[in-house]
Amino acid sequence: MKNIWKKHGVLERKSLLLTVSILVVVSVGGLVEIAPLFYLESTIEKVKGVRPYTPLELAGRDIYIREGCYNCHSQMIRPLRDEVERYGHYSLAAESMYDHPFQWGSKRTGPDLARVGGKYSDDWHRDHLIDPRSVVPESVMPPYAFLAGRQLEQKDIEAKLWAMTKVGVPYTQDMIDNAKTDLQTQADPFAPARDFKGRYGDAVLQRDFDGDPSRLTEMDALIAYMQMLGTLVDFSTYQAEAPENLR
Ligand code: HEC
Repeated sequence: MKNIWKKHGVLERKSLLLTVSILVVVSVGGLVEIAPLFYLESTIEKVKGVRPYTPLELAGRDIYIREGCYNCHSQMIRPLRDEVERYGHYSLAAESMYDHPFQWGSKRTGPDLARVGGKYSDDWHRDHLIDPRSVVPESVMPPYAFLAGRQLEQKDIEAKLWAMTKVGVPYTQDMIDNAKTDLQTQADPFAPARDFKGRYGDAVLQRDFDGDPSRLTEMDALIAYMQMLGTLVDFSTYQAEAPENLR
């Protein structure tokens, strides 16, 4: 035993040797942890209900990113008691598997939005975005009233879906070809929706989100996105899968 410590003395006195040895030891640890990930098909468990965003939601998400909402809002509920009690079930990896780029974040000037879908009415969201202090007097959130007056840009929606397929989102050719129709259908409660729901599921929301049926605005898209956040997985039936080695 005494001998071993003597040999260690050599390492401690020769800083270059110590640095190289640390590098060797750390890279072994790194290889053991990281290398297997390249051989796994997926590290995200499949969860029922998770689907790619509809074209309108995707457009709303782009507005969320453009306006920098992520500077004040995170979208990841950590598995800690205080967070779960405040925001609901902790976020699952699968719930952001189609997020490119993801919106997890750690900056919370405002609350986490991962499960804000269905928490408020569309009217509340509209009032809140137009003037946050009209519904939450102490709010420091800036107003986004202009979104209600801006026509939603639709001409590049097929390209947006196509671009998502390049990073692994499973949009079908059918979804891409019908992106513009689907986008308009979702914001119009009177449009026939059979094909749209066939593509994205029956639970998808279809209504006039911004309260102005005459126009399809950026406000429509952003509220459609807000209202579906965290609602895809039914947590009354969801059961976490045991890791493979424990099954
Ligand atoms: C400067 C920081 C800031 C920015 C930027 C910001 N927010 Fe907020 N947000 C807040 C704060 C603070 C609150 C809490 C008070 C309130 O409800 O207004 C809040 C609350 C909210 C809520 C209600 C959440 C809840 O559970 O009660 C929503 C929804 C929301 N923001 C959406 C947005 C969207 C969408 C954007 C981008 C268009 C945005 N916010 C940009 C600070 C911000």
